[in-house]
Amino acid sequence: MKKVRVFAPASIANLGCGFDIMGLALDEVGDILEMTASEGEGISIQNKTSVPLPDDIEENVITPVIRKFFQMTGLSGHIDVAICQKIYPGSGIGSSAASSAAAAYGMNELYDCPLSDEEMVVCAMEGENLASGGYHADNAAPALLGGIILIRGYEPLDMIQLPIPGNFYCAVVHPEIVVSTKAARSILPKAVPMHDAISQWGNVGGLVAGLYSGNIGLVGRAMKDSVAEPYRKQFIPGFDQLREQILSSGSMAMNISGSGPSVFSLSDKREIAHRAGEIMKKHFTAHGINCDVYVVKVTNKGAKLLAHEVL
Ligand code: HSE
Repeated sequence: MKKVRVFAPASIANLGCGFDIMGLALDEVGDILEMTASEGEGISIQNKTSVPLPDDIEENVITPVIRKFFQMTGLSGHIDVAICQKIYPGSGIGSSAASSAAAAYGMNELYDCPLSDEEMVVCAMEGENLASGGYHADNAAPALLGGIILIRGYEPLDMIQLPIPGNFYCAVVHPEIVVSTKAARSILPKAVPMHDAISQWGNVGGLVAGLYSGNIGLVGRAMKDSVAEPYRKQFIPGFDQLREQILSSGSMAMNISGSGPSVFSLSDKREIAHRAGEIMKKHFTAHGINCDVYVVKVTNKGAKLLAHEVL
């Protein structure tokens, strides 16, 4: 029998213009799983947190990740999972991806690392598919690998780690409203008008160029979303007014984090990020909504092993 304790961080997906193809890992919050492998077959999942999660293992994102790992490696075993720390589901900071990434990473550690980074992301995407009804890696890849990740293509998976400018600060606010990723995806149109597509790919190019040149002003200008935000901002009370306030207080951009309802701002100074965090908190409180605020830097570290033992 072998046991591991693993961590995978929260993440911000899309970064404005990069719907389903860009995301970054956050340095403070995340999920912790304890996973034990023994002989036999089967999966058990125990939730040791106060965060409500489905009792049925078929509805937990960890289950398809474990099955995919066994399918990809040809290995087998009985896996007991204890969820020890959990990001609130429906928060928009990659809750399902943190569990999926931790599960993929934990399985790989339990079985002496047969999978490459890309293969672990493929495994973790099974959890994302269960949670959102789509295979996307823009949360799962940064949660596993850390940093800012661009997914150039899905068939086959082609990921690029982008540079993180030194002065890249985010304020993230998680208002206590639940918006499921499935619901936030189901309202999106199937086709994008040419005008919006042109603006989106110009911004993706600008964002990548800004990250490589360390030009935070360019990164901020490029963090605009013509594809998903026009449909999703209805879930976030006073979104446009909040953005106006955030931009006039010195931040360079404000966008929906992933599918929302969390929003994040980008600043080149920690104190401006703190100011943005306070404005966001005041905004949601005025709408009668409690919220958590984090001021964070992007972390280079993704999923990691916290402890392991052979029983
Ligand atoms: N790219 C996904 C979406 C991220 O926007 O639906 C989900 O957090």
